[in-house]
Amino acid sequence: MPSLGVLGLDRKQPPSQGMSETCESPDEEQKNDNNATSVYLAMVILIFCLFTLFTFLLYIHVNQLADVAVFRENLRSDEAIAEIQQIAREIFRRELQEQRFWDTIEERDRFDPFQDEPLVRNERKTARERRSTNLMAENIVFGNPGEPAGPEVEFFNPKLKHELEKKDVEIMKKSGLKGAAPGGDSWVWLTSYSRIPYEAITGFCRATKEYCPPGPQGLPGVPGPKGNRGDVGIPGPPGLDGREGKPGARGPKGEPGFPGNPGLDGRDGVPGEPGLDGVPGRAGADGIPGKDGKDGIPGLDGRNGENGKDGFPGPMGPPGPTGMPGSSGLSGPRGRPGKSGTNGTPGIPGINAWKVKVNGTFSSELLIPPSIAGSETMESAKPVIVHEGDHLRLRCAATGTPKPHVEWRREDRLPISVGSWQASSMAGHTLNITKVNRVHMGAYQCLADNGVPPAANATFFIEVHFAPLIRVRNQVVYASNGSHAILECEIEAFPEAIKYWEKFPEGKLLEHGRRYRIESHIDGYKSTMRLNMTVMQPQDYGEYHCISKNEMGITRAVFHVQDRNPYIVRPLPEHTEVAIFGTMPPKKESLDDLCPPPPPPCPDCPDPKDFKCKDTIVSLFDLIGGHLSITPTGNRSYPGLPNRTMDCVLYAVGKPVYHKFTEQNYGSWLKDPTPKNDAVGEKIWATKENDSFRLYEYANKAVYRNNIPTKSYRLERPFQGNAHVVLNGSFYYNEKNQPRIIRYDLSTERQLFYKDIPDLVANASGHLYTTEYNNVDFSVDDNGLWLIYSTPGSNNTLVAKLDSHNLDVLYSWNISVNHRRVGEMFIVCGVLYAIDSVTERNTKIRLALDLYHGKLLDVNLAFTNPFRKTTTVGYNHRSRELYTWDKGNQLTYPIRYHEIGYNSSSAEKTDDLSAQLQTGVDVFHDSGSE
Ligand SMILES: *[C@@H]1O[C@H](CO)[C@@H](O)[C@H](O)[C@H]1NC(C)=O
Ligand SMILES: *[C@@H]1O[C@H](CO)[C@@H](O)[C@H](O)[C@H]1NC(C)=O
Ligand SMILES: *[C@@H]1O[C@H](CO)[C@@H](O)[C@H](O)[C@H]1NC(C)=O
Ligand SMILES: *[C@@H]1O[C@H](CO)[C@@H](O)[C@H](O)[C@H]1NC(C)=O
Ligand SMILES: *[C@@H]1O[C@H](CO)[C@@H](O)[C@H](O)[C@H]1NC(C)=O
Ligand SMILES: *[C@@H]1O[C@H](CO)[C@@H](O)[C@H](O)[C@H]1NC(C)=O
Repeated sequence: MPSLGVLGLDRKQPPSQGMSETCESPDEEQKNDNNATSVYLAMVILIFCLFTLFTFLLYIHVNQLADVAVFRENLRSDEAIAEIQQIAREIFRRELQEQRFWDTIEERDRFDPFQDEPLVRNERKTARERRSTNLMAENIVFGNPGEPAGPEVEFFNPKLKHELEKKDVEIMKKSGLKGAAPGGDSWVWLTSYSRIPYEAITGFCRATKEYCPPGPQGLPGVPGPKGNRGDVGIPGPPGLDGREGKPGARGPKGEPGFPGNPGLDGRDGVPGEPGLDGVPGRAGADGIPGKDGKDGIPGLDGRNGENGKDGFPGPMGPPGPTGMPGSSGLSGPRGRPGKSGTNGTPGIPGINAWKVKVNGTFSSELLIPPSIAGSETMESAKPVIVHEGDHLRLRCAATGTPKPHVEWRREDRLPISVGSWQASSMAGHTLNITKVNRVHMGAYQCLADNGVPPAANATFFIEVHFAPLIRVRNQVVYASNGSHAILECEIEAFPEAIKYWEKFPEGKLLEHGRRYRIESHIDGYKSTMRLNMTVMQPQDYGEYHCISKNEMGITRAVFHVQDRNPYIVRPLPEHTEVAIFGTMPPKKESLDDLCPPPPPPCPDCPDPKDFKCKDTIVSLFDLIGGHLSITPTGNRSYPGLPNRTMDCVLYAVGKPVYHKFTEQNYGSWLKDPTPKNDAVGEKIWATKENDSFRLYEYANKAVYRNNIPTKSYRLERPFQGNAHVVLNGSFYYNEKNQPRIIRYDLSTERQLFYKDIPDLVANASGHLYTTEYNNVDFSVDDNGLWLIYSTPGSNNTLVAKLDSHNLDVLYSWNISVNHRRVGEMFIVCGVLYAIDSVTERNTKIRLALDLYHGKLLDVNLAFTNPFRKTTTVGYNHRSRELYTWDKGNQLTYPIRYHEIGYNSSSAEKTDDLSAQLQTGVDVFHDSGSE
């Protein structure tokens, strides 16, 4: 019988309490146990003490078996169970040889601990007595004898384990108890062949713990047995390829393989040399004529050819008859000015200025010496050619601080003749010469001086061209035979005339020689020519002509040479009158002579401008429709025009500067002339002709050149044309097919205002200019927002000043300028400028209308269209440039203007405004004189 199987514990008492109390105070136990006899009590005590001893021995033993397990004070119960199982297993292993098992279920069943416990125990006891162990004392019995004995360790044939477990399940089902062990306890399997009730083993452990004080800490346990092999891990990442091994020994030769598929065809060979030509075959029968093909699509129009080169000059004509050697000629006209040189590097702009010291302190005002604008370009350097009777005006635009005094003088110090009187100098910005006369020929100097050195001057050379005039004092000359006769004529002509003598009626040209001595003497446009017939012969008497000829005409003077017979007494000719041949110069008349000063006003006095520029393609006269008329547009009242903030007139448009090319004819590019900050000032906005809902924004010029928009705005309504503007953070445009203008705010990206403009035409009949693309042309200058548009039933130009905030029309002019005959218009300083053409390479800006004063200004500026298709022109007063779109090229033109202080008094202002603006010459012809 198993010695350890005798583990009987009283279930009704908590084992710990029972055991500890029993062990610590046997006397108390004795008192409480009323049911037992004192002998039995003593036995129980003995049994408990024996148990204690056993436990102690077991402990010692366990310590000896250090390789099995170590009890530790604070083991958890399941760990304790495991350790005890382990200890028990070891003990059983040692003792098993002598153990007897239940070999069959029946054998075991026959032993029912609930029924024959005492019997079994007795059996076991006897068995135990028969055995000897070094571990167990004999007669160890647990539990009270009167009660059913506690569960014990059972041993079986290991084969039975499975059956027992099944049986336990049945018992559990039948009895409804927790387990199949006695008392409803569950079995704990110690080994495959032994089991013990759970309570027994836990009680044992508790008792052990309570009874036996913890011993000294044991040695660290021996490492446990090697665990089971773990699951195969996930294969690791493949290692680096090893070095290639040495080639193995050559294997035996394989069996010959099956023949492979035929390979691809090889490449074509190099063509052979061409064979000899075959004998031509006989001509075949003619084929049936084919059907006519369809007409081809007409090709694109060719590009315009380049202008041809100038033709070669024609061959030289045959030389004319040799003329008489002339006497020394008049000094020739001034030669043509040489080619203008290449532009020098621009100098550092600056002005000579002085500060004024007043009472020891400098005043804030700078003194600027006078300068004459445009005098360097020297329109004055080449002579001005006028004909007698023309009217001439010389203008000298002198500026400086203080305002310079301007004075005119002749360079030869002769007096200037003005009408019937003469003056050594004339003051004023202009010099008017009415009815130019030959006496006006000469160099005129305009001197501007304001006391700040140096003074400025500009010189104009005036050439008066006229046909020769001959004066003869002695028309009839008497000479006796053998003596000499002298004929003399006084000639006035310019350009210098050819002069010679002729004998009439033979027409014989007299040549200088021994018989005829011909002399002439020149002084300016005047000259004298003398003929000395040294020896008179009878055939020399008769009529002689003095002839003078220039490009303006030919004049002959007539002489009669008669024999002076000493025998005929003649009275000397009385008349000493001078004979005159040719046309006399016009009478000298001043403006006052022509047109007496008011009052009364002179209604017949023609406005010189009406006679201007007949020589250019479109005459200004045609442009302004005979006479200029400016009226308010429509029969409306206007809130009124705000005062002008800047008064200026252009005097030069510079050369175009290229910025970018875009493959579009009608794009636009815009900058804000009044930006919120510098960054906005750098921005460029652009529209594309085929995307009328979108405005593109570029942060700066570099981004614009690369064509990467920084932002794009989707407009609520589409735009028309390409004459839009950006001003003060808003985009202004004309709505497509509507007589409406729109202000779109760029920061809120919303349409803020729109306005229908009366008279504005939305269809093609309202197209402006020769470009015929835009119906409205927005313009911006220092004074704000302007609108140029057309009106139905008229070719007049309408110009409106707009309130840039709400688009109200503040004022609108109806101007009798035919916009269909000009290329483009723009506005600078409230002055409307028109470019003659946008398709000619070199053109002019001639029309300049001061909208505030309703006056034409005198300008004549060169303008170029390098690509000959400018479709929009705008003005940016911030950068002082015009910006244009010329056949997809984005260009700017720097401009220069004179500022005119609008604060200056009206008297000063009317002092021939245009003369203050531009240096130059005007020539006017009387309409009747042509
Ligand atoms: C300069 O000083 C004199 C007297 O000292 C005075 O009368 C005159 O007004 C002063 N001029 C200016 C411009 O201050
Ligand atoms: C010259 O003529 C212009 C216009 O014909 C006139 O305005 C100007 O006052 C004249 N100048 C002089 C000095 O007479
Ligand atoms: C005119 O100006 C030139 C320099 O531009 C100077 O040399 C010349 O002396 C001036 N003539 C007069 C008369 O002031
Ligand atoms: C004209 O010729 C004659 C003869 O040679 C000469 O005596 C006379 O002085 C000449 N007259 C003049 C004005 O030269
Ligand atoms: C415009 O100028 C006139 C005179 O120069 C002045 O009387 C008027 O008050 C000014 N108007 C405005 C709105 O500044
Ligand atoms: C407007 O100008 C065009 C061409 O310049 C001309 O044919 C037409 O008759 C003009 N119309 C009016 C109303 O003057």
